[in-house]
Amino acid sequence: MCPQNPAAPTDGAAARAAELRELLERYNYRYHALDDPEVPDAEYDRLMLELRAIESQFPQLIVPDSPTMRVGAAPIAAFGAVKHRAAMLSLDNAFSEEEVRDFDRRIRERLAHGDAIRYTAEPKLDGLAISARYENGIFVQGATRGDGETGEDITQNLRTIKALPLKLRAADAPRVIEVRGEVFMPLAGFRRFNEEASARGEKTFINPRNAAAGSLRQLDPRMTAARPLDLFIYGIGVIEGGELPPYHSETLQELRRLGFKICPQSKVVESVEGCLAYYREMAVARASLPYQIDGVVYKVDDVRLQRRLGFISRAPRWAVAHKFPAEEALTVVRGIEFQVGRTGALTPVARLEPAFVGGVTVSNATLHNMDELTRKDVRVGDTVVIRRAGDVIPEVARVLPERRVDGAQLVTLPSECPICGSPVLREGDQAVARCSGGRRCAAQRKGEIQHFASRRAMDIQGLGDKLVEQLVDGGWIQTPADLFSLQAEQLATLERMGERSAQKLCDAIEGAKHTTLPRFLYALGIRDVGEATALALAQYFPELAQLRRAGQEEIQRVPDVGPVVAKQVAAYFADTENAAMVDRLLAAGITWPDSPPLHAGGSQRDKTFVLTGTLESLTREEATEAIVQRGGKVSAGVSKKTSYVVAGAEAGSKLKKAEQLGIPILDEAAFLELLKKV
Ligand code: IVH
Repeated sequence: MCPQNPAAPTDGAAARAAELRELLERYNYRYHALDDPEVPDAEYDRLMLELRAIESQFPQLIVPDSPTMRVGAAPIAAFGAVKHRAAMLSLDNAFSEEEVRDFDRRIRERLAHGDAIRYTAEPKLDGLAISARYENGIFVQGATRGDGETGEDITQNLRTIKALPLKLRAADAPRVIEVRGEVFMPLAGFRRFNEEASARGEKTFINPRNAAAGSLRQLDPRMTAARPLDLFIYGIGVIEGGELPPYHSETLQELRRLGFKICPQSKVVESVEGCLAYYREMAVARASLPYQIDGVVYKVDDVRLQRRLGFISRAPRWAVAHKFPAEEALTVVRGIEFQVGRTGALTPVARLEPAFVGGVTVSNATLHNMDELTRKDVRVGDTVVIRRAGDVIPEVARVLPERRVDGAQLVTLPSECPICGSPVLREGDQAVARCSGGRRCAAQRKGEIQHFASRRAMDIQGLGDKLVEQLVDGGWIQTPADLFSLQAEQLATLERMGERSAQKLCDAIEGAKHTTLPRFLYALGIRDVGEATALALAQYFPELAQLRRAGQEEIQRVPDVGPVVAKQVAAYFADTENAAMVDRLLAAGITWPDSPPLHAGGSQRDKTFVLTGTLESLTREEATEAIVQRGGKVSAGVSKKTSYVVAGAEAGSKLKKAEQLGIPILDEAAFLELLKKV
């Protein structure tokens, strides 16, 4: 610790410390980022010792970006939250060549692009996504991905990873830059770590991914420092006072120049054929790579095209992860049972002899639906191949008929719900069979409330699935609306619930009342309404009352909403039981800001657009997305609150109304100009 009244540092000491830092950073960069060491390890260690000695004599000389600061700061009680300034997205997956070709075709169609697309192909690293922020060239904050919007502050832990520069190498670095990448544990380090841990009789890690995640989420950074972690940076999230290069491949080079470690296997490829060739190459190379990968990622190289393609939900349209085949294992089916979900859907689930696959023990696997069960002809007693891909739910891939035992039992669809006894129905030729009990069925009641409380819906912390089950089974609650009348004293009488956690839960329920309209719509759990649809509905109907009044036809006008979904939505609100529940939720005090602050900070923040007529270069859906991405919203009707009316060819009555009200009217060129500002 700091000595009392330390002596003032001499000029010589300050200069030498600066010199040592520069040398150490340079050697560190050559060693970790470029994999091209300049001096022997012993020389590096000697310089580090010298710097430490100076800094302990003159603690005033310590700066946060000193190489000595990598050893790990003091432990903390909990991670703080970091709101990402630009959302950290995820990737859609492709599991076959066909799906990759579809991905490429969709891109070319959307862009009306005759020529082949150029992609950057990169390994999909199996670790943990992180964001690192630099201000004036100095590393100031590190965060996990979390839910994409908010992550955990792991600044002190990231600091210990030598592949992360504490200071950018270029004098012309942007004023602010947030880079995105993957922290992973190289295989050699992983094996060594596990050997040592088991020799000490300590817990080992199941796979390198868990090892990386576990190491990074240590509250004691000194523990992180002791783990052999590495890091590749693969993108830029935020840049201020600098330009993003026009091609992703150039961004990678630029990142390397700034001092980051870039995956050496990244490569520019031409067209979908180039992607598939890369995939085959990496499938072979995989076994000899020093780190674990679970697939490859293709990204449209041209950043202008990326912008035109945009995002859907939380994944970019311009990138896809092409996953390697899932891991498989053999096991025996002990039984087949039916689970009832929140929409009443009956899912056949195989209860299995526990098997180890893809790094975890699996004892249940989904059979999806009756058609799948029949097609695969899975029977109780059968030996089956189970498959697990990454975080995906394990499934029964196929039966080994040659191993079928005599008397292997067929399982048929029950005619009554196993939970509530209501008739099980199959609508038309649909594969899904459903319990017709609605909220009379405890499984559906539980499912509805669990979904309502879930993280991406109302996000009621502390209200997990088990607790909901307990509350429903105990007859305490029947619908999501009942949550808001729960009392802490009442909850405290529950098994395994103390007074403090009961109060905490009540506070969380109270806090969840402040939400956004898209979240609320998603939380209702209307069949087929996922987050993207909920967002589209909320953009189109900024007032819930409008949506509740709207019929199927009007709902169908919402971009991306087809007749089937529109019918579900209209039917949901027309149902008196649902309507009463929504009324109760609103009466309980659920509120949201008028315009949901979805993308606060965009150039069109707080602006309301009305689209009319046909645009040449964008579909209505694309225009809506471009606006939403920039923080604006799109509304159906023109009013005094409208900021702009975008008028394409054959614009109709909305254009007239805009003229009457004196609302600014943008033609396509002016609109595109406006969109240049992100
Ligand atoms: S790009 C906008 N590139 O995969 C694109 N992600 O499923 C965002 N990952 O959370 C991600 N290697 O943890 C990208 N070369 C790579 C990657 C990669 C691994 C992970 C990352 C991300 C997840 C998305």
